[in-house]
Formats: sequence, structure tokens, C-alpha cells
Amino acid sequence: MSAAAKFYIETFGCQMNVHDSEKLEGHLVGHGWCKSADPELSDVIILNTCSVREKAEHKVLSRVGRLHRIRRRNPGLCIVLAGCMAQAWGTRLFDSAVPVDMVLGPGAMVRLPDYYTRFLRNRDPVADTSEPEAIFPLDTRLLPLPRHHFTYLTIMEGCDNYCSYCIVPHVRGRERSKPADQIMMEIGQLVKRGVREITLLGQNVNSYRGCPGGFPELLARIDSIPDLLRIRFTTSHPKDISPALVDAVSCLPRVCEYIHFPAQSGSTPVLTRMNRGYSREDYLEKVALIRDRIPGVALSSDMIVGFPGETDADYDRTISLIRQVRFDNVFAFKYCTRPGTSAAELVDDVPGGVKSDRLSGLIDIQRGISLQINREWIGRTAEVLIDGPDRRGGKLTGRTRQNRIVNLQGECGRGELIPVRIEGASPNCLYGVQV
Ligand code: SAH
Ligand code: SF4
Ligand code: F3S
Repeated sequence: MSAAAKFYIETFGCQMNVHDSEKLEGHLVGHGWCKSADPELSDVIILNTCSVREKAEHKVLSRVGRLHRIRRRNPGLCIVLAGCMAQAWGTRLFDSAVPVDMVLGPGAMVRLPDYYTRFLRNRDPVADTSEPEAIFPLDTRLLPLPRHHFTYLTIMEGCDNYCSYCIVPHVRGRERSKPADQIMMEIGQLVKRGVREITLLGQNVNSYRGCPGGFPELLARIDSIPDLLRIRFTTSHPKDISPALVDAVSCLPRVCEYIHFPAQSGSTPVLTRMNRGYSREDYLEKVALIRDRIPGVALSSDMIVGFPGETDADYDRTISLIRQVRFDNVFAFKYCTRPGTSAAELVDDVPGGVKSDRLSGLIDIQRGISLQINREWIGRTAEVLIDGPDRRGGKLTGRTRQNRIVNLQGECGRGELIPVRIEGASPNCLYGVQV
């Protein structure tokens, strides 16, 4: 039996990390551990970290630095750095100025209870960054009760794409899929616990291999689960979006008309250096296919500006792609070198100031497009799944099938699906009244 402890978790990074933290929480509670909302009153502080950009790592390092104060008051404290940054840095974290006791990669977090028992015996630092092989197990009974009617579920982990800028394949290991039968069982249990909307997670869900028909078959099976109202998924790699997937989104009533499929750049030479496996034209063909078969579909993208060798003309092509596609939303980032990736061998030659200008130029243009698209909703009625009162506790908030946030006046509860007449719009959300 391992030693039980009071633990506190803080999560950085993407939705998969958020879900991993929930799973870890359930796993530790299953071992008799007790969750605390206060790091000052905890035996173990876990930071589940992200390594995707330098900024993400700086955030973690400065957070660990600030934990010094707590350790001074509680010398028995165990600080665990878990997740992607732990995997990328390994034992180098013990040499850094930050006080860390354990370094556990995404595949090793599950062994925390045993490591903690060992740590209590000898107080030796622990590092486990063995290659992640399995998917972090999920015991739906032990998951924290969903705070909302929606939740995430990892259906596959790892990535085999090796985009030249990206650390994810280096920290999350090779692609592996959860069997479809297990996913069906898990979603069934989540729905019994009140979940009405599920977002299926994978670095590249289109290469899901957990059933013979792949991702489209999985979507069709999930679509038949009673009482589940909405299905979303992320992320789709543009090179792998198939007509079968597009048809699944188009025909399955619960699968929402929203596809996040990151272009990263609008310039073919840059896409080639990024090792993305498609050209600008290929991408636009996929957009045409999607728009043709899924009326009213919302599209969003990630974009990187300032990739090595990106000229003004390359950047202009990215902007022209954004104008041509008219994405509902774009998440844009300045390129930063990740050690160990193949792009780290290219010269990071776009000056910082130019990257910043390109980023803010892109964001301004996209805000204008998002506002136009949102204004087109005024006067129409949208189906909104209610999430609860808005942040100020006044009106209600929810999302449309196209994943747009709606702030509204109405009388209904969390998890209800209602028609809302849209009366106003900003770049980030819609305003409406329950019909
Ligand atoms: N699997 C997903 C998400 C990957 S990480 C996908 O393929 O889309 C999320 C986003 O971070 C990426 O889409 C990319 O836009 C951005 N990103 C990844 N590495 C980066 C780097 N080195 N510099 C800047 N942005 C990066
Ligand atoms: Fe990174 Fe590319 Fe894999 Fe996405 S598809 S996780 S960007 S390597
Ligand atoms: Fe996610 Fe960051 Fe890891 S984006 S997969 S937590 S490197």
C-alpha cells in the first residue's frame, strides 16, 4: 500500500493536459489521496506542464520559483513537475535553480503513488521520463464530478507527424489509439454522470485506429449514445481530413458543425519546411470539400508567424489565406525554437520585432473577420447548449453548435438545449434572447 497524501494540482497547456490532470486526480483519490485547493496546506504540489512554446515553459519555471516560499514553511513538501516539460527537460530540471523533487513525463504520472512512498523513505529525487506507451488510464467512477455538462475524453495520444517546429511528438511519444469499445463504455458512464457534450481529444484524431473504420466509424458509434447531445473533436490534421470524415460530420446529428484544422501558414514553401504534408492549394481544396458538404460549418485554425525564412511575401500569403477562407477563429503564435526539433537546425532569422508586427497584424485582420461572421448571425436563431450563469453571475452563457459563445437572457438550467434569437455580436461572442 502506498502512502496517502494531500495533493494540489495546477495545469498548464492544452485540453489534453487538462484532461490528464482530471485523470490523475481520480487516480490519486483512488489510492486514498485527498485533493486540496490550497498549495500551502498540501504534502504534494503537482504542476502538470506544457513545453509547446518557450513562454509556456517560462510560466512554469516562474511558478516553481514562487513555490520556494511554501517549501520554507513546509520542509516536508514534495514538488512534482509532471507532463510534457518534465519529459522534455528530464533530470536537467534538478540542475536548474528551481526546487523540484520529482520529474514525471506524461507516461509516468500514473506511477506517482509508488514514487511518493519511496520518496518518503529516502527523500531522493525521482525522475521517470520513460517513453509514453499506454494512454493514461481513466476510471470514470473516480473522475472529479464534471463541473459543467461538457467534458473531454482522450481517444488517442502521441503524434507521428513530426512537424518540424513541434515538440509534441518528442514528449508525447508515438501515436496510439484507445479501443472503440472502451471509449463507448467510458462515454456511457460519463453521460450517466450528467455529461451532455463530449470533446474527443487527440493530437491528430483523423489517424485514430481503434476500430476498423477509423475515426468516422467511431463518430457514428458515439452518435448513437442516448442522452448525449453534442460531439466535438480536436485536432484534425488537414492532410488526413477525408471525405468519409466530412460526411460523418455532415450526416451525424450530434456531431457539431465545427472543425479546427490548423493551416499553420498560407505559403507552400513554408508549409514544406514545416513538414506539414500539404500545400496551400491542398488546404484550400479541403476547405472547399468541407464547405460543400457541411452547410454552415465553422472553421478555425492555428497559425505560426515568423517561421525560419518566412518572407514578407510568405506572410502576405498567410493573410490572403485567412481572408479567403474567412475562419471563424484563428489562434496565432510567434514561432519559437524548440530544442530537439528539426526546425531547431534552421536559423531563427525573423527578428523579434517583425514577428510581433506580423502577429498583431494577423490578429487585427482576424478580429475584423470574426466580427463580420458574428454579425451575420444577428436576426437568426441558434441552438444553444446552456453552460450556466456568465462570469459576472448575471446573464446565462452557452455555445452554439459552431462553438460560438452566446451571452443571453433566459430562464433555463445548465445542460439544456434551447433556441436563442441573436440580437448582437462582438468579435468574441454573440448576444441573444431565449425564444
Ligand atoms: N496537434 C495539434 C496541436 C499542436 S500544438 C495540431 O497539430 O494542430 C498547438 C499549436 O501550437 C500548433 O498548432 C502550432 O500552431 C503551435 N506551435 C507548436 N509548436 C510551436 C512553436 N515551436 N512555435 C510557435 N508555435 C508553435
Ligand atoms: Fe505537433 Fe504537427 Fe503533431 Fe500537431 S500534427 S502535434 S503540430 S507534430
Ligand atoms: Fe499539450 Fe503542451 Fe504537451 S500543448 S501535448 S501540454 S506540450
